[in-house]
Amino acid sequence: MKTRPFRCLVTAGPTREHLDPVRFLSNPSSGKMGYALAAAAAAAGWRVNLVSGPVALPPPAGVNIHRVVSAADMFQAVKKLFPACDILIMCAAVSDFTPKQVFAHKVKKGQAELAVEFVPTVDILKTLAARKRPGQLAVGFAAETRNVEAYARKKLKEKNLDFIIANQVGGAGQGFASDDNSVILLGRDGTRAALGPAPKTKLAQQLIARLRAGHSSL
Ligand code: C5P
Repeated sequence: MKTRPFRCLVTAGPTREHLDPVRFLSNPSSGKMGYALAAAAAAAGWRVNLVSGPVALPPPAGVNIHRVVSAADMFQAVKKLFPACDILIMCAAVSDFTPKQVFAHKVKKGQAELAVEFVPTVDILKTLAARKRPGQLAVGFAAETRNVEAYARKKLKEKNLDFIIANQVGGAGQGFASDDNSVILLGRDGTRAALGPAPKTKLAQQLIARLRAGHSSL
């Protein structure tokens, strides 16, 4: 009997929250970690949907790519693909805020001040993890500049996650845009594994293997 492939949904990159057609709020996420995870999952024989914010990377081989711009776009795409995945890995650096008002035309200079109001975006991971069916895993990332592990444990609980991948940002050679990273994988089941420092491609292979094992032991 042929067993169906393991199905994952990965998000990667930043989102852009436009204020007007030429200006946006974003962050320095390069998408490297998410793309490496998608590539490692495809190489492991998984069926992979990758929802990507704007990045400069080519899509990994064997992956279905869905390109989005804003947090709201990402939510729509992920929501649609979520029911048919075995594991959701939210690696994207989703903007937490978006401008309340979006201008249809370029805002002109000349005024003394420009006050912009922001409203929170939907927490995609939290919203979908609350709707998990049995057999589905939700995995998040926690990028922090301090107290990484404590904040990550808090998020693991608050967002109803199965695993969280904690990484320190702001240090040399790790986190945003770098080729290397070191992370701590924490699981609802008590898993704690410190991985790296290592190239993101290598870390991705290790994480994919551990997440697959985590799903098997459900
Ligand atoms: O709460 P915090 O933003 O630190 O959590 C990070 C995790 O939540 C990441 O996995 C990120 O992809 C996800 N996230 C999300 N929707 C948001 C903000 C973060 O899914 N609006």
